[in-house]
Amino acid sequence: MKFEEFKLEREQSTWENKVDYNLSESGVHPRTLSELFEPEFVDQINNTELTYGFTEGSPDLRKSIASIYSGATKDNVQAFNGSAEANMVSIMTLIEPGDEVVYMVPNYLQIYGFARGLGANIKTFKLHESLEWKPDLDELKSIVSEKTKLICICNPNNPTGSVLPKKMVEDIVAIAESVDAWIIADEVYRGAELNHKECTSFWEPGYKKTIVNCGLSKAYALPGLRLGWSLSNPEYIKQCWANHDYTSISVGRLSDLIASHVLHPNNRMNTLDYIRKQLAINLGLFQDWVTGFDGHLNFIVPEAGAMAFVNYDWSINSSDLITKVRKEASVMLVAGDWYGMDQYIRFGYGAKRSHLEKALERITPIFRSL
Ligand SMILES: Cc1ncc(COP(=O)(O)O)c(C=O)c1O
Repeated sequence: MKFEEFKLEREQSTWENKVDYNLSESGVHPRTLSELFEPEFVDQINNTELTYGFTEGSPDLRKSIASIYSGATKDNVQAFNGSAEANMVSIMTLIEPGDEVVYMVPNYLQIYGFARGLGANIKTFKLHESLEWKPDLDELKSIVSEKTKLICICNPNNPTGSVLPKKMVEDIVAIAESVDAWIIADEVYRGAELNHKECTSFWEPGYKKTIVNCGLSKAYALPGLRLGWSLSNPEYIKQCWANHDYTSISVGRLSDLIASHVLHPNNRMNTLDYIRKQLAINLGLFQDWVTGFDGHLNFIVPEAGAMAFVNYDWSINSSDLITKVRKEASVMLVAGDWYGMDQYIRFGYGAKRSHLEKALERITPIFRSL
C-alpha cells in the first residue's frame, strides 16, 4: 500500500523549525503550562502517575468533550492523538478499496491522500471564492449518488477560514441522508470564530451516520498535547476504539488530564475567548499590511482560524514564491500549490505579534520587487 506525499505536512516538517519566523501555522501561538494554569493544577500534573490511563479517553475527558455538543454523552466520544489520528481511524474504519468518497476542496488533504492510499475513488466539490469560499450545493447534489459511501467536510475550512452557515450544514446532511452516505466533518477550527459565535457543528442535525473529528490543536492552541476526538453514534465509537488498538492504543496520560481540565464547562470559554482576542488583534495588523500592496494581494477575510488564503497577481508560481521568501527572509509560508491552487499563499497570522510584525517586514521588500 503506497501513500502519496502529504505535501503540506512534509514541507512543514522539513522547514518549520529551521526558519526564523514560521507563518505556516494555522493556529494561535501556544502558551506554556505555567502561563496557562494555576499552580494547584500544575501540581496535579506533576503528581499524576504516567500509566496508559483509559485507552478510549478517561471518563472525565469524554464527559468534558461530550458537554460541548448538545445531547452527547461520553459513549459518543473516543479520544485520539490529534484530530489527525481521529481522521485516520475514521477512514480505516469506514473505507474499503473501491469505495466512493466525495470530498470538499480546497481542504487539508490528509483524508484525501489517506483514503486514496487505501484504494478509495475520490470525487471533489468546490468552495468558490466568488461565493466567499462557500460551496454550490447543486454541484454537491450532482456528484453524490447511491455509490457514495462518504462525504468529507472541513468546517471551518482550512485553508480559507470560511464557515458554513447552519442552513448549509443542514442541507449537506440532507444530501448525505438522501443517499445513505456517511459524513466526516473535520471541525478542528470550530471555536476559533472571529465573531465569537461557535459555528453549527455537523453533530447538531442528529444524523446517525455522522462523525465529527476535532481536537485541541487549533481553536484551543494546544497542538503539543496531540489531543483529538471523534464524536459519533456509540456503535461507531466501539468500532473505532477497536481500530485504535492498532494505531496508538491511547492518548498520553498527561494530555488526557490537561484536556479534561481545558474542556471542562467551567474553563472552556476562557481559552476560546483568549484565542479569539488574539486572532482579532493580529488579523487587523495583517489586513493593514495587505492593503499596502495596492491590490496585488487580495483575500476574503477569514471567519475562523488563524489563516488567510491570499491571492496574488504576480506571475510567479506559489511554490517558487514561498521558497524565495523562505530563502531570502527565513519566513515560512504555505503555497497554494500544496492545495492544488496556484496563485494563492496561505498566511498563518496567529504567530506572536512581534514575530508577525517582523516576518511581514522581511517579506515586504521581496513582494515589492516582484
Ligand atoms: C483541517 C485539519 N484537520 C486536522 C489537522 C491535524 O491536526 P491535529 O492532529 O493537530 O489535531 C489539521 C492540521 O493542520 C487541519 O488543518
